[in-house]
Amino acid sequence: MSLLEVSDLTVSFGRRRRVAVDHASFSLEAGQRLGIIGESGSGKTVTALSVMGLLPETAQVAGSVRLAGRELVGLPESQHARLRGDLVSMVFQEPMTALDPTMQVGRQVAEVLRLHAPERSGRARQHVLEMLGRVGLTDAERVADSFPHQLSGGQRQRCLLAMALINSPDLVICDEPTTALDVTVQARVLALLDEVLSAEGAACLFISHDLAVVSQVCSDVLVMLDGDIVEAGPVAKLFTAPEHPYTRGLVATARIDQVRPGERLPTVEDFYPRAEAR
Ligand SMILES: Nc1ncnc2c1ncn2[C@@H]1O[C@H](COP(=O)(O)OP(=O)(O)OP(=O)(O)O)[C@@H](O)[C@H]1O
Ligand SMILES: [Mg+2]
Repeated sequence: MSLLEVSDLTVSFGRRRRVAVDHASFSLEAGQRLGIIGESGSGKTVTALSVMGLLPETAQVAGSVRLAGRELVGLPESQHARLRGDLVSMVFQEPMTALDPTMQVGRQVAEVLRLHAPERSGRARQHVLEMLGRVGLTDAERVADSFPHQLSGGQRQRCLLAMALINSPDLVICDEPTTALDVTVQARVLALLDEVLSAEGAACLFISHDLAVVSQVCSDVLVMLDGDIVEAGPVAKLFTAPEHPYTRGLVATARIDQVRPGERLPTVEDFYPRAEAR
């Protein structure tokens, strides 16, 4: 049995049932890292939110999402909430909006413990400081007592990572976790993510529009285009032998040095000329 098994997942919105994810199927083994790439609007976040049970009520969901054998589609929110932070957790793109601006970050990390592992919350402060240290925050005491606005972008993102990891979930979903960071901080956070995932043995679903970033963390990757999974396979194979023309374009962008001057890369419009009109 796979840790995560998604079959024929279809998510649509609104009365006209605009399809955001179209019959997507994939699976993820324990400890495996799977990237999802695709351009803006291709359905990456909607796929992730389906696993987290965080889709808005206006979303219509069909198909199946099984996590550790449990069916998540149609699962009552009270039960889904228990799985979040316990079996599965998520690191969001924008640390400034994902953190509560009115609460010290140490208390926010402790809150996750209190909700999901009350037996450990007696020594919450100690657990929190330890976790902040493990995500590379050397000055853990000071960081824990800071409000989000008193921290740098990289520090905030590390705090979110600490929140996502503190209960040792089996699956960590990262949605563009480093997009808001500058390139050197991004590289450091990715290296750290790689390290803590290995140490925890956690599986990861890693969303990005950047194949180069995905290849730093993941062994395998799905390529999404307008709600469809158009290609899937090991990262190395995608780089060396991309099959779908859209993937070839992505690979060329990731290796910008190989694009000849004046050469135009394929874009989503080449495959779905009327994507917006659907
Ligand atoms: N709450 C919502 N209501 C209506 N449509 C939505 C909603 N959330 C997402 N969509 C639509 O679903 C499609 C997929 O969106 P999604 O957020 O998954 O894209 P994405 O691949 O994550 O893009 P990005 O790279 O910009 O984050 C888009 O067309 C989007 O407009
Ligand atoms: Mg998104």
